Amino acid sequence: MAIHPPEPFRIKMVESIKLLDRKAREAAIRRAGYNLFGLRSEEIFIDLLTDSGTNAMSQTQWAAMLEGDESYAGARSYFRLAEAIEEIFGFSYFLPCHQGRAAEHILSTCLVKPGQYIPSNTHFDTTDANIRARGGHPVNLVIDEACDPKLRHPFKGNMDIHKLRIFIEKVGVKRIPLGMITVTNNAGGGQPVSLENLRAVSETYKEFGIPFFIDACRFAENAYFIKLRESGYAAKSPLEISREMFALADGAIVSAKKDGLVNIGGFIAMNDEALFEQARNELILQEGFPTYGGLAGRDLEAIAIGLREVLQEDYLRYRLGQTTYLAECLLQLNIPIVEPPGAHAVYIDAELLLPHIPQDQFPGQALAVQIYLEGGIRTVELGSLAFAYPDTETDQIVYPQLELVRLALPRRVYTQSHLNYVAEVIEETAARREQIPGYRLTYAPKLLRHFTAQLKPLKQAKFFSETTKLTALSSSDQ
Ligand SMILES: Cc1ncc(COP(=O)(O)O)c(C=O)c1O
Repeated sequence: MAIHPPEPFRIKMVESIKLLDRKAREAAIRRAGYNLFGLRSEEIFIDLLTDSGTNAMSQTQWAAMLEGDESYAGARSYFRLAEAIEEIFGFSYFLPCHQGRAAEHILSTCLVKPGQYIPSNTHFDTTDANIRARGGHPVNLVIDEACDPKLRHPFKGNMDIHKLRIFIEKVGVKRIPLGMITVTNNAGGGQPVSLENLRAVSETYKEFGIPFFIDACRFAENAYFIKLRESGYAAKSPLEISREMFALADGAIVSAKKDGLVNIGGFIAMNDEALFEQARNELILQEGFPTYGGLAGRDLEAIAIGLREVLQEDYLRYRLGQTTYLAECLLQLNIPIVEPPGAHAVYIDAELLLPHIPQDQFPGQALAVQIYLEGGIRTVELGSLAFAYPDTETDQIVYPQLELVRLALPRRVYTQSHLNYVAEVIEETAARREQIPGYRLTYAPKLLRHFTAQLKPLKQAKFFSETTKLTALSSSDQ
């Protein structure tokens, strides 16, 4: 196994975590309706539910928070953030907001009308839902290679330009109020998009006069993949690459909870003044005055610093190294994962690991529940529970192409020995895969059902032995 760069930081403050015993974990997941979102954080040992808002901040960020200017209007902290955004993203206007989906909501409210279509590589669940909530149709046009988890393509987040062109010609530009792309492509395995592809997407949208917005939550991770994998970029800094990415677009929506290296925050940025004015009115209605947008001044300070820290190369080298390390551990154990791994997460192919569970019995959710039962690790299903939906014309359920379980790595939070433990637990889980049951829904709202759905196992699983060595583990308070 290759040597991976160690953490380019040392730990100054710790938070203790504990592994509940097996019986307590069983009771917890039953109480949560077999939905990992329903667990209390104290019931979790290692939390890989998301990399969103779970980052550890630096001493520089914490120090800057003390300088937060909490003025209602015209706060100093707003102008510090504006400087950072100008330096990295380069758009003419921006509005802070409390998180990524607020930016999506504002963008959809301003631009999307019922019956319109919004293409992207793969829309994330909240983007998808925000478009649907306005009566629009999100359309995913990622390259075919993205659907083959074993295929090692350097930029599996790329959009299929041929499909995009055919789609635009078929639907007609009048019914496409904006075009998007997500970097990195979270719902498609956290895969990066190349600059060559971004350029082609931008040119295509431009040719048809369609405004182009980048969902840029993980822009720095995407930029570093470009540096490592795309010819001509090895000598460029992640900042230079980021600027080149954003120069191709008309705007961006950003959840700062990822590559902003903070726990809350986001923004929407654009070049079009008329759109900015419309978005600003929406922001005042939904989030707050344009110089704070639903955030405290101290949050704006932390984001301004986080956006710069995330572009440091030693950080990005370690960040991608951590994911690669976990992926290599799992591959050595013959656990099927999406290859090559992205930067923020490793995705297990649940359909391949649990072939006895059909898609309508949620193989991804079954695996995620079992990983929790086995070792107190929380992951998230990104498969039928999150993405299956009834076709509006036929009412038939449309299933996603992949049934994934995502192990998202919070930034600067877990060490390599935590990752070793994760790999061990997944090995134990896979060893008993035939005993893992499918699930049925007992409650599900129409939109974003995976957050609050309730499920039941289809047959009583013979869950794992009480004597497993993992139940005896617990961390000390040190
Ligand atoms: C690609 C992508 N877009 C948008 C969002 C929404 O951001 P937020 O959770 O801050 O609302 C997420 C969150 O995970 C995401 O991964």
